Amino acid sequence: MTVAIEMGHTTAGAPAALDLEELLATRLLVQGNSGSGKSHLLRRLLEQSAPWVQQTIIDPEGDFVSLGDRFGHLVINAEEHTERGLQSAGERARIHRVSTVLNLEGLDAENQMRRAAAFLGGLFEVARDHWYPMLVVVDEAQLFAPAVAGEVSDEARKLSLGAMTNLMCRGRKRGLAGIIATQRLAKLAKNVAAEASNFLMGRTFLDIDMARAADLLGMERRQAEAFRDLERGQFMALGPALSRRPLGLRIGPTDTSPRNGTPRLMPLPESALEDARAIILAAPPPETVRPQRRSSPDLLDQLMAAKSAALEIRPEPVEPPISAEDLAERRERVDRVLRAVLAQPDAGFRVIGVLYQEFVVRCRIEGLASVVPDLPAFRRMLTRARAGLGSDTAGDDAWQDVSVRASLLPEDMQGVFMMIARAAKEGWPCPSDAAIARAYGSHSLRRARRLLTYIEEQGLIVCQLDGLGRRVVTLVELAWATAPGDPNAEEAEQGSLAV
Ligand SMILES: Nc1ncnc2c1ncn2[C@@H]1O[C@H](COP(=O)(O)OP(=O)(O)O)[C@@H](O)[C@H]1O
Ligand SMILES: [Mg+2]
Repeated sequence: MTVAIEMGHTTAGAPAALDLEELLATRLLVQGNSGSGKSHLLRRLLEQSAPWVQQTIIDPEGDFVSLGDRFGHLVINAEEHTERGLQSAGERARIHRVSTVLNLEGLDAENQMRRAAAFLGGLFEVARDHWYPMLVVVDEAQLFAPAVAGEVSDEARKLSLGAMTNLMCRGRKRGLAGIIATQRLAKLAKNVAAEASNFLMGRTFLDIDMARAADLLGMERRQAEAFRDLERGQFMALGPALSRRPLGLRIGPTDTSPRNGTPRLMPLPESALEDARAIILAAPPPETVRPQRRSSPDLLDQLMAAKSAALEIRPEPVEPPISAEDLAERRERVDRVLRAVLAQPDAGFRVIGVLYQEFVVRCRIEGLASVVPDLPAFRRMLTRARAGLGSDTAGDDAWQDVSVRASLLPEDMQGVFMMIARAAKEGWPCPSDAAIARAYGSHSLRRARRLLTYIEEQGLIVCQLDGLGRRVVTLVELAWATAPGDPNAEEAEQGSLAV
């Protein structure tokens, strides 16, 4: 399958396509003076590829935050998070496959570099299981990979340059496709530019940039003179994902617009403001009346919300309100339906979509069509049920805490974590590999063990073996521990799937 992204038209009028798969393998460098249309070009590329591939944008000016409204990108305001927070946000964005905009607006150069490096580091360091393809767009890349030392500390420069070098030189194996744009090729570190094999060259004035561009493209310097005459939105394309020979193209329109568009000339208001002096020079409002910066919710919550918003298709509720008693009674009946679905012998191995469909059908047969939980709610019920929990634990504070921790994990692992947490809370023996595999919907014991290791690496549990080779799992911070359990036991002996 090849996916062709339409970028606009060639100067001859033919559609200009960008081969997305090729791009993932060969990376892209965009250069053009300020105002030549680079950010517009990146926006076009992001919009057109959004349905096909996960993306992230390192956005020094907050140009791209509007992608959030239209395409569901999670906007991360870097100003509001620590480097460590951003590093784990990068990792989690990959684990949960959420597209993001890292908005670095409002930070000084030093902090822009440090925080971009931390976030990129998270994308880069994530475990091999999560190496899915992803576009990583860096606008104004010379800020993050400067050719020469500037006013920032050596440490910040080293971190940032290191992250950009990793992205462009070693990212490919990890599924990261770097797409970088710069207004001054001569200001961009050479090793970072050198790794791209696709180029889009826009209007360029300075000889030194033109010379660098000609070198990169393998053109005569004389030919590169043509970059001076390009108009806004016109680029010269070259590379395996674009064209084998230099090809002139004009970038097409975008669906969204930058928040900070170029100010346009507007006719002045017709009627002159009466009493301009009194209005403009009135006493300023007291400090406290100024609008406060909204404090941001926890980043993890944002990630999870963005993710479920992307998955959820919720029918409009049209029900009249019902009494609390009725509601409790219906909930209890819905719980019964769920238990019946899960009581089937192979329920543990079926994918959630299939279980959900069966659950919906049974609810309708029971006359519960109007209170059928949606898929995300069903997932939560399933997680609890598989962990052997009834709705009675819903109000338990410690359990709330456990669910929050569970949400750090990819969704398909949460049930396993909850099952172990349940055993730890009750002091039951640690579930065997077979029981863990079953809760994960798998028959593979090796998978079960890998899964435990993974959850341990996330800092949620500590696994230990006692002198008899029995496993004990302790929940980090809560300090609940399971009783020792034989990892190799047949699942039937433990029967932790209480349905
Ligand atoms: N291909 C295009 N079609 C229409 N408008 C464009 C195009 N390219 C750029 N523009 C407009 O020109 C202005 C400058 O473009 P921008 O992408 O911000 O330039 P740069 O990022 O290179 O400084 C913006 O207002 C943008 O909307
Ligand atoms: Mg720009």
